[in-house]
Amino acid sequence: MTIKRVGIVGFGLMGSGIAQVSAQAGYETVVREIAQPLLEKGFARVDSSLARIVKSAKMTEDDAKTARGRMRGTTALEDLKDCDLVIEAVIEQIEAKKEVFGTLDGLCPEHTIFASNTSSLTIVEMAATTKRADRFAGLHFFNPAPVMPLVEIVQAITTSDVTVAALREFVGSLGKTGVVCKDTPGFIVNRLMVPYLLGAIRALEQGVATVEEIDIAVKLGLRHPMGPFELIDYTGLDINLHVANSFFDEFKDPSMAPPALLKRMVLAGRLGAKVGRGFYEYDEKGQKKQRSTPK
Ligand code: 3HC
Repeated sequence: MTIKRVGIVGFGLMGSGIAQVSAQAGYETVVREIAQPLLEKGFARVDSSLARIVKSAKMTEDDAKTARGRMRGTTALEDLKDCDLVIEAVIEQIEAKKEVFGTLDGLCPEHTIFASNTSSLTIVEMAATTKRADRFAGLHFFNPAPVMPLVEIVQAITTSDVTVAALREFVGSLGKTGVVCKDTPGFIVNRLMVPYLLGAIRALEQGVATVEEIDIAVKLGLRHPMGPFELIDYTGLDINLHVANSFFDEFKDPSMAPPALLKRMVLAGRLGAKVGRGFYEYDEKGQKKQRSTPK
């Protein structure tokens, strides 16, 4: 199947990054948000990301303008009815996602493939709300989507091999590498990453070392681009808590249970770089200022 037009539902951090890479790869891309100000915020994020890519001479200004011109914003789901592929990146709540897919199922033609960018919810549960469970899969991008080269293609028990092949081709056309995996909690990357991040918080709770020392150790000892606390701040403490809770529900494995400190930091509103405070403090541009000592 040829994918020409791509729809993205949800224009937050992930949705805007996915929409941008889709437009950069030459696809007509329609993005849907629930309100105009959220569309404007998403487009501002895309503009600043494109400007970064142009600044580092990886794209010409003309190509960036052309990519931007392929993107169209809407607040109406009906405007996604001509899309060959729809990728959902709305809030990580199963009922919200089911509602989106249930509505889209009545709007889109039979051939349209549906994909969710969920990082922790079950693909087959969303697929079952539609009449196209064979044309339904997970497409899990990583943050920042314009930079990260991996996409997990999640094959639920209902997803056909033809759909997986079409998504593999699509992911390749974005200049990214796709890996196919089963519809299990955390897929591949988060299943390995979450116990590691929670382990770092437990090491902090147990006084093994400070936030900075643990981050430095991982960056220099493992050559990771970010230490675990920088990464938790970057992805959001609330997101990490949500993912840990859903993994623990499924696996009942203590290494997946959220540590007390993570819960308390979320309750205190220290959600990470996006609010200016997590394990570190950030300025208004999201640049790290100093450690925000958890008490
Ligand atoms: N758009 C476009 N370009 C961007 C960008 C964005 N949003 N963010 C960074 N870049 C570019 C920069 O312009 C720069 O390009 P250049 O090398 O050509 O000048 C390059 O990326 C590196 O950026 P910086 O120099 O600003 O900073 P760093 O070298 O520290 O890199 C980083 C930033 C790419 C975020 C790097 O720290 C990194 O890879 N961190 C790990 C990110 C990670 O692990 N992501 C996965 C999170 S888990 C997830 O998403 C799953 C979910 O389910 C939770």
